[in-house]
Amino acid sequence: MRIGVVGASGFMGGELVRLLADHPRAKLEMVAGGESAGKPLRDLRPGLDLDMTIEPADAETLARRCDVVFLALPHGKSADMAYELLERGCPVFDLGSDFRLRTSEQVKQWYGREAPYEGLLSEATYALPELTGGPPPTARLIACPGCFATGLALLLAPLTSLLQRGDRVSCFGITGSSGSGIQPAPGVHHSLRMTNFTAYKPLGHQHLGEVGQLLGDMGAEFDVDFVPHSAPIARGIHLTATVGVPVDQVRAAFEASYQGKPLIRLQDGPVSLGAVVGTCRVLIGFAGQGSQTAIFLALDNLLKGGSGQAVQNLNLWRGWPELEGLPVHGMWP
Ligand SMILES: NC(=O)c1ccc[n+]([C@@H]2O[C@H](COP(=O)([O-])OP(=O)(O)OC[C@H]3O[C@@H](n4cnc5c(N)ncnc54)[C@H](OP(=O)(O)O)[C@@H]3O)[C@@H](O)[C@H]2O)c1
Repeated sequence: MRIGVVGASGFMGGELVRLLADHPRAKLEMVAGGESAGKPLRDLRPGLDLDMTIEPADAETLARRCDVVFLALPHGKSADMAYELLERGCPVFDLGSDFRLRTSEQVKQWYGREAPYEGLLSEATYALPELTGGPPPTARLIACPGCFATGLALLLAPLTSLLQRGDRVSCFGITGSSGSGIQPAPGVHHSLRMTNFTAYKPLGHQHLGEVGQLLGDMGAEFDVDFVPHSAPIARGIHLTATVGVPVDQVRAAFEASYQGKPLIRLQDGPVSLGAVVGTCRVLIGFAGQGSQTAIFLALDNLLKGGSGQAVQNLNLWRGWPELEGLPVHGMWP
C-alpha cells in the first residue's frame, strides 16, 4: 500500500514516517509539507535513515501516487486537503482535530472556528480502537483522536457502568512539550518549560468535546473535571483520577472493558510514564482506600496518543494484524 504523509517535518508526521518506513505492508511513497518542501527529510529528522525529500503538499500528486494519505497538520489546516483528496478518490487519515466532532456547532464551541465541510463532519469515522473498534473497510475519512482525548476516554469509559448522572470525576493531567508541536512558543520553549510547572486550560481543554461525544455514545452520564498541566518532559501523558467507588469494583470494570485489548495493561498501584514512552502501550493502575479509588494512566502522546494509534487504525481498516509496525517494548531508562 503506497502511503503519503503530509506534515512530515512535524512531530506527528515524523513519527508516522518512522513507523510506516518499517511497516511490513506499507510503502512510504511520499512525504510532503509546507515551508519544508524541497528539504531533505534527513536534515529535518536526523534520526531517520531515509533518503527522501519533502515535496509540496499537492492533492493531485498525492492522490495519483498514494493509495492513502495521512494528514498531520495544525488545527484547522486539514479540511481543505482532506476534501481535495477525497474528491480524487484517495482515503484520508486525519491526525488533527478537523473531523473529530460531528457538527459545526461543536467545532465552533470547542475550537472557535467555522467547519467548512459539514457533510464530511458527519461522514468521518472517529476511531479509538479499544472503544469504537477499528474503522470499517468502507470508511474513507478516518478521524484519529487527540492525545489527551485518548487517555481521558480510555480512563473514563469503563466507569460508565459504575457512575450515574450527577456523579463527578476529577482528573489531573500532565503532558510533555511535544504535545504542542514543533514550533517554539513560550509554553514549549526549553528554558521556560524545564524550570516550570503550571496548569493550563483548566476545566476547558478542547479535547473534552470529543471525549464527551464518545462517552455520550457509550451511554455515560457522569461529569468530568479535567485540569491539564505542562510538565518539564518532552513526551508522555500521565493522568490521575479519583472516584468514590471501591477499587475491586473499579478494577473489575476495567478488566471487563479491556479484556483482549493487546495495548492496554492493567496493574496494581501507580504507573510509570517512562515505561510507555516510545511505545504504543497504555498502562493503567489502581490504588484503593476505603470507598475511594485512584486510577492512573500513562501513554506516549505521539504514539498511542497520535501516530501509533493512526497506524493501529490503518491495520484494523485493512484487516491486517492490529499491532503490525507498532512499537510495544520501551527503552529503560
Ligand atoms: N503533538 C501531539 O502530541 C499530537 C497528538 C495527537 C494529535 N496531534 C495533532 O496532530 C497534528 C500535527 O501535530 P504536530 O504536533 O505534529 O504539529 P507540528 O509539529 O507543528 O507539525 C505540523 C506540520 O504541519 C506542516 N504544515 C503546516 N501548514 C502546512 C500546509 N499548509 N501545508 C503542508 N504542511 C503544512 C508543517 O510543516 P512545514 O514546516 O513544512 O510547513 C509542520 O511540520 C495537529 O493537528 C495536532 O493537534 C498532535
